[in-house]
Amino acid sequence: MKRVVSGIQPTGNLHLGNYLGAIRNWVRMQDEVAGEGGDCFFFLADLHAITVHNDPAALRANVRAMAAALIAAGVDPDKATLFNQAAVPAHPELAWLLNGTARIGWLNRMTQFKEKSGKNREGASVGLFAYPVLQAADVLLYGATHVPVGEDQKQHLELARDIATKFNTDFAVDLFRLPEPIIPPAAARIMSLRDGTAKMSKSDPSDMSRINLTDDPDAIAAKIRKAKTDPKPLPDDPALLDARPEARNLVGIHAALGDEPVADVLARYAGQGFGTFKPVLAERLVETLRPISTRLAELTRDAGEVDRLLARGAAAARTAAKPVLAAAYAALGLTRG
Ligand code: TYM
Repeated sequence: MKRVVSGIQPTGNLHLGNYLGAIRNWVRMQDEVAGEGGDCFFFLADLHAITVHNDPAALRANVRAMAAALIAAGVDPDKATLFNQAAVPAHPELAWLLNGTARIGWLNRMTQFKEKSGKNREGASVGLFAYPVLQAADVLLYGATHVPVGEDQKQHLELARDIATKFNTDFAVDLFRLPEPIIPPAAARIMSLRDGTAKMSKSDPSDMSRINLTDDPDAIAAKIRKAKTDPKPLPDDPALLDARPEARNLVGIHAALGDEPVADVLARYAGQGFGTFKPVLAERLVETLRPISTRLAELTRDAGEVDRLLARGAAAARTAAKPVLAAAYAALGLTRG
């Protein structure tokens, strides 16, 4: 039976990279597995968010805002278990148990830690370094079979598989299931609108670099109009976009929005310049995001409802997490209180 698990850091804003790279797949898989008797667990990774400095009041508000954004984007708390990680202590508990299995050498290879710690590695928090072990616990705890994520999380998922395999082998158990990443081909990596070689990210200081799901139609149109491009017309062969990262990104976004191959988009626009392509793309984005931002505005007015839904999800997640956590303690020879 399919068990889908994924998380997102609560930062207030959901951007187009999150949406096309991950959340849209959450919604699709939620609807698919609900019909097959499987289930889905989606959570706000607030315990991950504290590995870099976070203002406590902002973190609390962001958990609620991001939960509302996920529901507005189609995550249905009646079909999927939606909760915040800190409400389920089994996540950090299992992470601690897995710290005995994860190797420092494995964590040293994590590119996201290298990027986030930058030149100040010695000054980075221990949490930022150990972060992928918590992420492994997040999915192994529920016996996830499928984990819908963007390309940047692939390495973390591979680590989760390595930890699971080593634990099962070292303690001669068949406890942890190996999760498969589900990465959408067209939207695996949505790039910044200002730099086609950097991924679209909430940490980019320029808001012009990303489309937020809360942006109004004028903001979306302005961001696409000002998006960096090159003066050449669009080619007819996708391979010719390889050396044109900004053009490739915009065409890729268009393809992802319409769920069609890049080649099909190029077949329609080959020979045309960005003066023609950009307004079409902006219109497409506005159409896709309008229902989401309308629903989000409604939910934002009803914070109590979001809190209630999260509490309900957390109770279900705490129950679901019990068997694997208990088995992990037992496998290690630990007696719990
Ligand atoms: P986070 O919060 O950075 O991103 C949430 C999801 O959005 C995807 N994503 C993108 N996809 C395509 N293009 C982009 N520019 C882009 N930016 C973000 C991410 O790949 C992710 O799927 N560590 C995770 C959260 C996490 C998690 C987990 C995920 C914690 N525990 C367990 C899966 C399973 C993170 O920081 O994602």
